[in-house]
Amino acid sequence: MRVLAATSEIYPLVKTGGLADVAGALPLALARSGIETRTVVPGYRAVMAAARGRKVAAWEHLFGGPARLVAAEAAGLQLYVVDAPHLFDRQGGLYVDASGQDWPDNWQRFAALSRVTAEIAGGLIKGWRPDLVHVHDWQAALAPAYMRHGAAPAMLSIVTVHNLAFQGRFPAAIFAGLGLPDAAFSLDGVEYYGGVGFLKAGLQAASAITTVSPTYAQEIRTPEFGMGLDGLINARAADLHGIVNGIDTEEWNPKTDRHLAANYGPGRLGARNRNAAALAGEFDLDADHSPLLAVISRLTWQKGMDVLAESIDAIVAAGARLALLGSGDAAIEGELLAAVPRHRGRVGVRIGYDEALSHLLQGGADAILVPSRFEPCGLTQLYGLRYGCIPIVARTGGLADTVVDANHAALDAGCATGFQFAAAERGQLVATVARAIAVHRDAGAWARMQRRAMKADVSWDKSAAQYAELYRRLIGENDKTP
Ligand code: ADP
Ligand code: GLC
Repeated sequence: MRVLAATSEIYPLVKTGGLADVAGALPLALARSGIETRTVVPGYRAVMAAARGRKVAAWEHLFGGPARLVAAEAAGLQLYVVDAPHLFDRQGGLYVDASGQDWPDNWQRFAALSRVTAEIAGGLIKGWRPDLVHVHDWQAALAPAYMRHGAAPAMLSIVTVHNLAFQGRFPAAIFAGLGLPDAAFSLDGVEYYGGVGFLKAGLQAASAITTVSPTYAQEIRTPEFGMGLDGLINARAADLHGIVNGIDTEEWNPKTDRHLAANYGPGRLGARNRNAAALAGEFDLDADHSPLLAVISRLTWQKGMDVLAESIDAIVAAGARLALLGSGDAAIEGELLAAVPRHRGRVGVRIGYDEALSHLLQGGADAILVPSRFEPCGLTQLYGLRYGCIPIVARTGGLADTVVDANHAALDAGCATGFQFAAAERGQLVATVARAIAVHRDAGAWARMQRRAMKADVSWDKSAAQYAELYRRLIGENDKTP
């Protein structure tokens, strides 16, 4: 089976969040069940530097300039890189400029990604045509619309929603520049509240929709989580599937992880102390044995980081230390940084993005805090499970689906892997941290929970099999239609 994927980020080439991890790991997992994936990605500078290949197509004008399509291999991934310097060769973020503002031509940048994907689906490349197109998030979601409205009307497609909060909404005036037929500007096309909606268009046009956990698949059918798209999603409920993400268990393996001060497995949890000591050094924390909580996160409202900032005094009063790595919202960064001088030795904050330090945190902290207001899947709690860094999470989306709360029944039955609280709210967060600290006092109980967490299946095996089954079902149904 041949699958054409499209994504705006892919680990290890470019990453701002979990989407990159998923886009980078899923093709490798699918390959193990005989599915070949080729992935269309923007030719950002980092991608052009890492993925050298050969030109397989060219355009004189692709949304404002000349472009080439380069077939390349990097990190075991087969890529189609959209080499369009006028769109992607620039300094700054993937989606925002150096001052944090969205690039004004984002609609062209990601319409280009989508359009190229649709053209490949339509036969642009001699000798390689996919059986199915699988696109991720709003940046690639226009591809199914391009396909349906001309480029490859019969091609099967899946849109995966990693976060419904990001929808790719633009004013109606851009429609003329998209190169879609006039009829596409309609209620069942790309029109969205009077403007153009990239994600909306994809959700409408795709053969099936998936999102990254069963709970989030239910949540987005409600006005509270649907972000204006719940009506459309409900209308397509029969084609909606929730498949929880896996993680790359080689990249994230405490036995071999090169970012750790000490490697360990479930039988050598004591070695984690050396990682904890390294963290105390990195974050200027007291090198005592009090519970060490980690946070690795975008610092945003979605992630409940404002609630965390409000809770720090109480967390410290309860006896824990906190080491936080993240970046994002300037106001939240400020509040978190302000807690450091208030709690010298107890709270350490590192603003920035640091892949290596994120591994050390998982390998040395006792618990990882994820107080999200909503969380489509969440990966940091999965890394936490794998590393015996016990997740303390809000009960939403994929967090609800992947962590077993240590209530009395679960502790008795020996199946708890972490702690959940009902909602991202200070009282509940602090009470749950206190509950975790109480269990932590019983070193044996804590170690049992760590070993159980480390045994949880967080690999891609089960989830990739679910994607493979969905692919096969869609193709099977398609073959049956006359
Ligand atoms: P989201 O994609 O919504 O940000 P996820 O939990 O799915 O949330 O994925 C976040 C990914 O980004 C994880 O791999 C996490 O380890 C990583 N990450 C987030 N912030 C940082 C940071 N400041 N430094 C290093 N890695 C980070
Ligand atoms: C999004 C979501 C996150 C999810 C990730 C990968 O960034 O916010 O919950 O884990 O995508 O699917």
